[in-house]
Amino acid sequence: MINSRYNPTRRALIFWTLFIGIGAVAGSVEMLADPTGKAMGMDALLPFFKKLPFSDLLFKNYIFSGIALLIVNGITNLTAAVLLILKRRSGIVLGTVFGITLMLWICIQFYMFPINFMSTIFFIFGAIQAATGYAAYVFERQESFSVNENGYPNIGTEKQRLVVYFSRMGYVKKAALEEANRTGAYIYEIKTDEKTDGTLGFWWCGRYGMHAWDMLILPIGIDLTRFDHITICSPIWVFGLSAPVRAFCRQSGGKIKEADYILVHHQKTPYFNAAKEMDMLLGLKNSPAKSICCRRGKYLSEKHN
Ligand SMILES: Cc1cc2nc3c(=O)[nH]c(=O)nc-3n(C[C@H](O)[C@H](O)[C@H](O)COP(=O)(O)O)c2cc1C
Repeated sequence: MINSRYNPTRRALIFWTLFIGIGAVAGSVEMLADPTGKAMGMDALLPFFKKLPFSDLLFKNYIFSGIALLIVNGITNLTAAVLLILKRRSGIVLGTVFGITLMLWICIQFYMFPINFMSTIFFIFGAIQAATGYAAYVFERQESFSVNENGYPNIGTEKQRLVVYFSRMGYVKKAALEEANRTGAYIYEIKTDEKTDGTLGFWWCGRYGMHAWDMLILPIGIDLTRFDHITICSPIWVFGLSAPVRAFCRQSGGKIKEADYILVHHQKTPYFNAAKEMDMLLGLKNSPAKSICCRRGKYLSEKHN
C-alpha cells in the first residue's frame, strides 16, 4: 500500500522487540554464567532484593533473576519479533503486551532500588514499545479495511433518490454504499483537493474541525434539484460536522427538497448536533438522522434522532 503507516510502525516494533529481547537474553546469560553478580558489578545490589517476598530463597544470587529475565523479557520479545517478521497479527498484540510487561518489571525495580537512570530509561523504552504496538494495531486494522464497490447491484435503480457522502478512510463510504443499495439511490462523492489522507491529513482535517470551517470542495457535479430525497453521509470531525460536508450543505441550501443524514464516528455518543447544522445550512427542519459508531471498520452501534 502507498503511504502505509502500518509498515514503518511494524518495523519500529520489530526493532523494540529485538532490542529488549536480545538485551534480556544477554543479561540473563551473564547472570547465569556468574550468579554472584560480581562479573557485572551487580553483587552490591543483592541486598536490595530483600524487599521482595521469598528473598532468602530466590534472591541469594542471580539464578532466579536470570531465569525470570530470560522468560519474562527475553523469549517473549524474541517470539513477538519472529511473529512480526512473519507478518502475523499476533506479533502486534504480543509486542504491545510485552512493552507493558517491561514497564511492570521496571516497577518492581522502582520499588526495590533508589531512583536510577537505567530503570527510568527502560521504563520509557517499555512505554514506547507499548505505544508503538498500539499504533501498529490501529494502522493494521485501518489499512486492512476495504470496500468492494461492485458488491452493491441495487445502486442507481431508484431515480428519485441520491446518497451523498464524504469519506477519508472508507468507513462513511461503506455506510453510504449500503444505504444507496438499500434504497436504490444514486451515489455521489464529495471530493476535495485538500490533504485529508494519512497522519498529516488527519491533523489538517482536525484544524478545519476545530475551527468549524468549510473545506474547499470540487464543484458539485450533479443537479440536486432533480431528486425527491437525498441522504447525506458525513464523518464527525472534532465533535461536529466534517468540513467538506459543511461546504457541500452551504452550497446546496434551497436545492434539496427532503433529506436524511447518516453520521459516522468513533465514539459511542450520537452526534445529532451535526444533523441540526446540516438542516440549518440546507433550510430544512427535523430531518431524520442516524448516528453510527464505527471503530476501525467495525460498525458497533446505531442511534436515531
Ligand atoms: C480530524 C478528525 C476528527 C475526528 N473527531 C471525532 C470526534 O470528535 N468524535 C468521534 O467520535 N470521532 C471523530 N473522528 C473519527 C471519525 O469520525 C471516524 O473515524 C469516521 O468513521 C471516519 O470516517 P471516514 O474514514 O469514512 O472519513 C475524527 C476523525 C478525524 C479525521
